[in-house]
Amino acid sequence: MSASAPNEPVSYEADIKPLFRERDRSSMLSHFDLWSHDDVSDHATAILAQLERGSMPCDGAWPADRVEVFRGWMEQGRPV
Ligand code: HEM
Repeated sequence: MSASAPNEPVSYEADIKPLFRERDRSSMLSHFDLWSHDDVSDHATAILAQLERGSMPCDGAWPADRVEVFRGWMEQGRPV
């Protein structure tokens, strides 16, 4: 995965969905579907909080540049 530059357009389908492994999706399905744009949009604030804290995924925090890609997507209005 290559990190996006700060102002590069970020889309859910191309840049965000591929960050979530099958294991992430199945672990979190009782709360929301990480492979669904609408679910990730609805829960984006809680998801970002966990990613920043490093408490999710449960088996290892994301590197900071990957968290920044997620934040950039939120700031761009969470496009599909
Ligand atoms: C990038 C991947 C993941 C993201 C973004 C994520 C996000 C979150 C968020 C936002 C919550 C809080 C949910 C809420 O309180 O409504 C949560 C809870 C939780 N997650 Fe994840 N998660 C990820 C991967 C995983 C993985 C791999 C596991 C491994 C088992 C896991 C296990 C849990 C558990 C056990 C909770 C607590 C559920 C509860 O309180 O009922 N998550 N996660």
